[in-house]
Amino acid sequence: MAESNIRAAVIGVGVGWNHIEGYQTHPHCELAAICDINTTLLNERGDKFGVPPQHRFTDYREVLRAREIDAVSIALPNWLHEPVALEAFANGKHVLIEKPLAASVEGGQRIIEAARAASKTLMVCYNHRYRPEIVWLKSLARAGEFGHIYAAKAGWLREGWIPTHGAWFTQRERSGGGALIDLGVHVLDLALWLMDYPTPISVSGAAFAEFGPRGQKTRPRSLKPERFDVEDSGFGFVRFANGSALQFESAWATHREPNQDAYYVRLFGSEAGANFFTGAPPGETVTVFKYINDQPASIIPRLQTGVSSHRLAVHHFVDCLLEGKTPESPGEHGLIGLQIIDAIYRSAQHCCEVKL
Ligand SMILES: NC(=O)c1ccc[n+]([C@@H]2O[C@H](COP(=O)([O-])OP(=O)(O)OC[C@H]3O[C@@H](n4cnc5c(N)ncnc54)[C@H](O)[C@@H]3O)[C@@H](O)[C@H]2O)c1
Repeated sequence: MAESNIRAAVIGVGVGWNHIEGYQTHPHCELAAICDINTTLLNERGDKFGVPPQHRFTDYREVLRAREIDAVSIALPNWLHEPVALEAFANGKHVLIEKPLAASVEGGQRIIEAARAASKTLMVCYNHRYRPEIVWLKSLARAGEFGHIYAAKAGWLREGWIPTHGAWFTQRERSGGGALIDLGVHVLDLALWLMDYPTPISVSGAAFAEFGPRGQKTRPRSLKPERFDVEDSGFGFVRFANGSALQFESAWATHREPNQDAYYVRLFGSEAGANFFTGAPPGETVTVFKYINDQPASIIPRLQTGVSSHRLAVHHFVDCLLEGKTPESPGEHGLIGLQIIDAIYRSAQHCCEVKL
């Protein structure tokens, strides 16, 4: 093993299995530990990914105290992101944290402060950015192909998939919110990333809980919510300091086409626009629109797909540690998402626009 190799651990192995896979497939990284309080799942994952029993832990504190570990992924329920991240920084670890950054704006701020105080890297796992369509759109945006992106729309509107595999998802004190903080943060991030993260100045929004409280629209054969006090759909309109605007929407449950679970981003720029929609046929998920010779034209690229976006996100994190670079999705990006969603909740509650 080269001296520069990173030794990483994954805490929480639900969706965290993607992080295990990401660390194991990076050529300069070693998966040093996995951790989960659910020993059945811990051992299932451990067996599947060939993690030796002595590298499997149920107490995250033991993992954080291990001197040989450089970095940890935190893939725990939202309310645990903050306490575990603070302890990770106190123990000198770099942190890749699943979205949302935290269950509250204040929690997100404390995580960012702790990372700064420890001079350690903090990256939010916004894995969908690494889809080839988004990478391509970002390269066009960076090259100025869109001109000024004055408006965008983004959304993820499921027909019916209220998550109940962890009871915490539908309980505000543990999740921080519902569909907006779970799915909305992803598409909000994609739009903001492509718009170059303009500064939000005001937010208007609405949030609804139409199906969860009635135990409807969970996945077939999955549990009914134990308790449901979050939104199952939310809608927002954001204005930015540079004059641009964003409309976005997300839902775990709506009456719409059966089994729909696709997400989209539309960009409207002064020189070109774009439509990205994961529900489109393969090879047609992204299109750019512009004038060519004064005529409207559509450009559909041929992109290589198939690599897990989570794997690419984890590789980016490791590369940043190896090369001393700041990640493309620092904690500050996670915080802006939380601020916008928190403003939607306040706007919905008070029926007014909220200034940021
Ligand atoms: N980036 C994505 O696409 C994506 C997808 C799904 C979930 N997530 C995020 O990942 C996080 C985890 O989501 P999930 O779907 O895996 O949830 P989950 O409830 O399925 O898994 C969380 C795991 O954490 C374990 N855990 C709970 N408390 C623990 C503790 N004190 N110590 C060790 N382990 C503990 C649980 O046993 C469970 O296995 C959430 O923040 C969620 O928002 C991100």
